[in-house]
Amino acid sequence: MKEFQENSHFDKINILVVGSGAREHALAWKLSHSPRTKNIYVAPGNPGLDSMSKLTPIKVDDLDGLINFALELRPGLVVIGPESPLAAGLVNHLEAIGLKVFGPLATAARLETSKVFAKQFMVRHGIPTAAWASFTSVGEALRYLEGWPDGPIVVKVAGLAAGKGVTVARDRGEAVAAVRAAMEERCFGVAGEVVIIEDYLEGEEVSVLCFTDGQTIVPMPAVQDHKRLGEGDTGPNTGGMGAYSPVSAYTSEVAAQVERTIIKPTLAGLKAEGLDFRGCLYCGLMLPASGSPYQGPQVIEYNARFGDPEAQVLVPILKSDLVEIMLACAGGTLAGQTIEWRDEASVAVVVASGGYPDDFDTGLVVTEKIPSRAGASLIFHGGTAVNQNGEIVTSGGRVMTIVARDLTLEKALLKAYDRVRAIHFKNSYYRRDIGYRELARRQLTED
Ligand code: AMP
Ligand code: GLY
Repeated sequence: MKEFQENSHFDKINILVVGSGAREHALAWKLSHSPRTKNIYVAPGNPGLDSMSKLTPIKVDDLDGLINFALELRPGLVVIGPESPLAAGLVNHLEAIGLKVFGPLATAARLETSKVFAKQFMVRHGIPTAAWASFTSVGEALRYLEGWPDGPIVVKVAGLAAGKGVTVARDRGEAVAAVRAAMEERCFGVAGEVVIIEDYLEGEEVSVLCFTDGQTIVPMPAVQDHKRLGEGDTGPNTGGMGAYSPVSAYTSEVAAQVERTIIKPTLAGLKAEGLDFRGCLYCGLMLPASGSPYQGPQVIEYNARFGDPEAQVLVPILKSDLVEIMLACAGGTLAGQTIEWRDEASVAVVVASGGYPDDFDTGLVVTEKIPSRAGASLIFHGGTAVNQNGEIVTSGGRVMTIVARDLTLEKALLKAYDRVRAIHFKNSYYRRDIGYRELARRQLTED
């Protein structure tokens, strides 16, 4: 009977969220609205989370610290935000002490943590992706490039590189430089010991995140991220400068095709290989442009976690209880779970430190002149800290994400940028064109 009561729907639970970015702020914000939530603990979190959770200063890579804290707290649910603790096997350790965890075991997280594993997995299961080859020697990689017709080509370091290990080279010269940087100069350390060279795919990129308990898989609304630093998708790749949902290019026909050719085969592949994936499976897709030799949606990458800023866009339009969904994923009962979304547009704009994704200053004081419609938007902290005077200061590249939702993307954008313009710190930077592809598509259909 006691056992039953502890697991019943009426019990409140403590939740431990691991991570410190705007993604974790957004997830914790949504989790805090659940009637199931007693207290939220975040390790290490950030100042934006202070009012809704208990912050504990354990870093995401301090595995022993996290395990000891979890042993003491015995939370009813642990949610892992970033990829590095997944790669290090935190979920394995937490499950071994009997905890329910939203996040895959390390072997399943290889879909993200090893690009070679992910590519081979796709080949084994007939999942559409760009043609590729992998190299362990710089000489072989350079010889391969010599035989390549000039034109765009993509060079990726095989290991984790905080979103920076991909070079979309415009020509062979840039590709050669990327190979040398990874394999000779070791710019990405061991992550660059193996390099993948793959076909460049032109088209529309979308992120399709899915809840899964390893048996059932449920896609969320498609999101379009803006990975390049500069307006019009120019400049270096970043972790993501802004995003929106829904994406009109992701029609119900495309969604059905993606379920049939990518999402279901991925789950079937995981099952067939005995890989236990319970959490968020993120499919980064390319919808090839017309005239491309590639037919139908292709997988660019998998991630074994929520995206950032994709999570910030999605949680405000999720109607259902995120605690229930995550418990169902962790516990293998997702089939019985209702997941409902608001029929609204949502947009996220990232305010970053000038200089990101390269060098930037930290410790700059952040102020906000609250606009009159402040309540109409959400602010999720990422790279922030508190200084000795108790002021919020910058501490990372992507400082904050501003999110707004409304009946149309245009209205949501007005609200979001209203708030973005009210945030000030020295050398702050944000893209002014988030959602531009969607707005252009609308224009086309209206003309
Ligand atoms: P990834 O870390 O693999 O997602 O790559 C980062 C970004 O590089 C992607 O979001 C795409 O914008 C771009 N990219 C990666 N692979 C390709 C490809 N084969 N063709 C075109 N762009 C790509
Ligand atoms: N926004 C892309 C990612 O989280 O990987």
